[in-house]
Amino acid sequence: MVVTSSVPPLRIGPIVVWPPIVLAPMSGVTNRTLRALYKPFGFGLTVTEFVSANALRYGNQRTTEMIDQHGVEQPVSTQLWGNDPAIMAHAAKVVRECGADIVDINFGCPAPKVTKTEGGSACLRDVDRCEAIMKAVVAAVDCPVTMKMRLGWTENEQVFVEVAKRAQAVGVQALTLHARTAKQFYKGSADWAKIAELKRAIDIPVIGNGDLGDPYDALRRMRESGVDAVMLGRATLGNPWLVSRLRALMEGREPEATPEAPDRLRFAMHHYRTMVDEWGEPRAVPQMRKHLGYYLKGFPGASALRERLMRTETAAETLAVLEATIAQLDSRTHELAVA
Ligand SMILES: Cc1cc2nc3c(=O)[nH]c(=O)nc-3n(C[C@H](O)[C@H](O)[C@H](O)COP(=O)(O)O)c2cc1C
Repeated sequence: MVVTSSVPPLRIGPIVVWPPIVLAPMSGVTNRTLRALYKPFGFGLTVTEFVSANALRYGNQRTTEMIDQHGVEQPVSTQLWGNDPAIMAHAAKVVRECGADIVDINFGCPAPKVTKTEGGSACLRDVDRCEAIMKAVVAAVDCPVTMKMRLGWTENEQVFVEVAKRAQAVGVQALTLHARTAKQFYKGSADWAKIAELKRAIDIPVIGNGDLGDPYDALRRMRESGVDAVMLGRATLGNPWLVSRLRALMEGREPEATPEAPDRLRFAMHHYRTMVDEWGEPRAVPQMRKHLGYYLKGFPGASALRERLMRTETAAETLAVLEATIAQLDSRTHELAVA
C-alpha cells in the first residue's frame, strides 16, 4: 500500500492528543504498568480500567491505586462508572485531584455485575439519567469530560445519537463509540457505519472503537468514518507493535515489520520484570499469566509453552522458561521448541 498523507491530532478541549490513537480501557488489564509500557509505541492517550464511583466513597486500597496518576503517563484519562449523578460528580472531583487529565464516563460496560446496579451500558436504557450524570460530572471538574458508550441496550434501542447530542449539549468534549449493543457483548462485529453516522450527527470529536486489529484496516476505517481518533483494545495485548505500525501510517511512513518471536519474548520478559518490581511477586505472577498468553498468540508451536507457563509459580521460574525458549528458538523458522 502506498502511504500518502498524515492525519491531524485529536483535540479534547485544550488537550492535544498525538497520535490520535487511544488505548481502550480494559478492566484487569490497563493498569498503570501496562499503560506506561505500551504508551511509547504510539498511544496518544491512555485510559484507566473503569473505577466504581461508589467504591471511591469508601476509598479501598485497590481503587486508590487505580486512580493515582501522579508520575504516570500524560495525558491520562480516568474512567468512572456509576448510576448516580451526585456520586459520579464526587468521584470525578476525587480522580481529578489524583491526577486525571480527563474524566471519562462509562456508558458501555455490559457485564452483569455492573448493569445489575444500572451502571455502564444499562444507563443507556434511561437517556435522561445519562444526561444528568454527564451534566453533574462536567460541572464538578475543571478538566475535559468524555464519555464512552455502546450503540444502545439492544438492537431495537439504539440511542447513541440521542445520548451523543445530549452529551454535546451539556459540555462533554469527546465521545467514544464501541459500535455494538450491550446485549451483543463481544459477539458479531462492530458496526462502523454507525460510527460514521455518529460522526455526521455531532460536532465534538468522535473516537471510533471496535475490532481494529490491523494498521491498514484501522486507518481505512478512520478515513471512511471520518472519526477524529481510533481506540484499540484487545488486538494490542501482547502486540503493542500494532500501534507503532499504525502510528507510522498516520505519519505517512511505511510501517516496520512486527518483530520476530525472540524480540517479542524479550519485551514480554521486560513487561514481566516491571510488573514484579511495581506490584510485587504475589500479585504480578498470576496477573502476568494472561499477558504471556497474549504475547504467545500466533506463535507456531506455542500451546505447549503456554501450558508450561500457566503452571510456573515464581517469577524466577517463569523468566527462566522464557529465557530458555528464546535460546531455543530456531533462527530460521522461529518455531518454539519446548522440551
Ligand atoms: C478484558 C476487557 C476489559 C474491558 N474493560 C473495560 C472498561 O473497564 N471500560 C470500558 O469502557 N470498556 C472496557 N472494555 C471494552 C474495551 O474498552 C473496548 O471497547 C472493546 O474491547 C472493543 O474494542 P477492541 O475490539 O479494540 O477490543 C473491556 C474489554 C475487555 C476485553
